[in-house]
Amino acid sequence: MSLIVDTFGRTVEYLRLSVTDRCDFRCVYCMSEDPCFLDREQVLSLEELAWIGQAFTELGVKKIRLTGGEPLVRTDCDQLVKLLGQLPGLKELSMTTNGSRLSKFAGKMHEAGLSRLNISLDTLKPELFTQLTRNGNLERVIQGIDAAKAAGFNRIKINAVILRGQNDDEVLDLIEFCRERELDIAFIEEMPLGIIDERKKSRHCSSDEVKAIISQRYPLSVSDKRTGGPARYYTMPGSKIHVGFISPHSNNFCHECNRVRVTVEGRLLLCLGNENSVDLKAIVRQYPGDIARLKQAILEAIKLKPKEHHFGPEGETQILRFMNATGG
Ligand code: GTP
Ligand code: 5AD
Ligand code: SF4
Repeated sequence: MSLIVDTFGRTVEYLRLSVTDRCDFRCVYCMSEDPCFLDREQVLSLEELAWIGQAFTELGVKKIRLTGGEPLVRTDCDQLVKLLGQLPGLKELSMTTNGSRLSKFAGKMHEAGLSRLNISLDTLKPELFTQLTRNGNLERVIQGIDAAKAAGFNRIKINAVILRGQNDDEVLDLIEFCRERELDIAFIEEMPLGIIDERKKSRHCSSDEVKAIISQRYPLSVSDKRTGGPARYYTMPGSKIHVGFISPHSNNFCHECNRVRVTVEGRLLLCLGNENSVDLKAIVRQYPGDIARLKQAILEAIKLKPKEHHFGPEGETQILRFMNATGG
């Protein structure tokens, strides 16, 4: 049982650990068009990231997900996977990626011991893909998904952020894509981070709307599948895949939150929609390898975890931090 328990009685067993703020895409919901990235010395080294992972697992964290930016932009990520993979008590080590580099790295990551992959894919239209990612190539990502399957990853989940007027007409196409390849899929409501303008507000599309579209073709049945993440899953006739919905606006899941994030700058963020944080980098730089000190800081920090986020589709609470700097 994890020792990390917040003031509302929630136990933290899931760490989202960001390995970079950089990315080869510039998704419209995640980054600014012209982002400013951190310098090398501001970013945690692999060893520092591993110490932080160790401190969390010693306290009882069972699941670590590597995020970014795009984790695979950091080409030595497999070394981190190997270091974290040795931690006693860790049950799952996974990664969320944009897929662009999987053709090259999927095999290496699987061999290093990564257990699961979540891959972002919002559209199957090449031009729209390039527009939403601001410079991504759809074909390469699809090749990357296929390479990940070929490398032996077998519980892949596709993440699709649905935006009204952009890709909301592709819900069924994405479902068919995943049925054909036996991939799970999660439909995500956009979270308003970074700069919120009128365009962002009007493109909000609720999980209920997405569910209604799918139900026109396939009746959905509630599934008891849980991954420890925020998605609620359903099944459909004629396929083994799970269809998930991540609905921070329409079905707030904060009351059962089991996770925290560490940004690549070593900032322990207690909630996606709140700026409370503790600087773990200061500790690892001043006391390298002192796991006891890190554990102490984490146990203190958890007292700052808020009850819930307050952002809604209209950007009621303004969080200026962009998603790539937050760790997905
Ligand atoms: P698994 O459950 O292990 O498959 O992973 P996950 O869904 O937790 O991770 P993933 O990186 O695939 O995240 C999918 C979406 O869920 C992203 O948009 C995340 O930002 C979002 N998400 C994850 N945790 C939280 C959270 O605590 N709050 C909110 N609002 N969104 C979250
Ligand atoms: N709202 C919802 N999901 C987002 N992601 C990135 N930015 C946002 C946002 N503003 C998703 C990506 C990726 C995961 C890490 O987070 O699609 O799958
Ligand atoms: Fe990169 Fe993922 Fe952000 Fe897109 S959502 S810009 S792929 S980090």
